[in-house]
Amino acid sequence: MELKLTPLFSAASIQQRVIELARRISDDFADRPLCLIAVLKGGVVFAADLMRELTIPVTLDFIRARSYDGANSTGQVKFTTMPTHPLAGQNILVVEDILDTGCTAVSIVERLRQENPASLAMCTLLDKPCRRKMPVNADYVGFTIDDLFVVGYGLDYEERGRELPDIHVLETRKA
Ligand code: IMP
Ligand code: MG
Repeated sequence: MELKLTPLFSAASIQQRVIELARRISDDFADRPLCLIAVLKGGVVFAADLMRELTIPVTLDFIRARSYDGANSTGQVKFTTMPTHPLAGQNILVVEDILDTGCTAVSIVERLRQENPASLAMCTLLDKPCRRKMPVNADYVGFTIDDLFVVGYGLDYEERGRELPDIHVLETRKA
């Protein structure tokens, strides 16, 4: 299968938006220590860029949630990576690549709440609100998009395309 890609957001426009988000986050957490939790794998590129634009000290940790059956939407999520820092009393910012149905985000929030953080906020680079099945919204959103499947800047199609600097819309075509 050939990947047919159409440009959506350039690396430069992503960088500009990351700077804007980082400013807001730095202001909002100016007096509170912040723990970033990047959602593996897609959130790592965004988290790496975002943290370097923040003007406040942060810690970095990771979480990975895997759905047993994405198509089935049973809500069955397994955590294959968990943060190693103690999270009780911490201010957590979950850093996601994309909010789609919201199933993953809801599971992550529910799981992290069990650790009794002082606060829990969410930052997503991309948001597809038209696809939402679960009542969840991010506190910080890079770009809101329509019902498109996108790759690049950490986002993949079957593990392909994560390394691309720009974000593209994917059309699947038989080669
Ligand atoms: P959810 O449907 O909100 O639970 O999203 C689950 C995961 O699906 C996201 O974290 C992404 O890894 C993946 N995903 C959703 N939409 C896209 C897309 O357009 N491109 C690449 N991955 C996506
Ligand atoms: Mg994926």
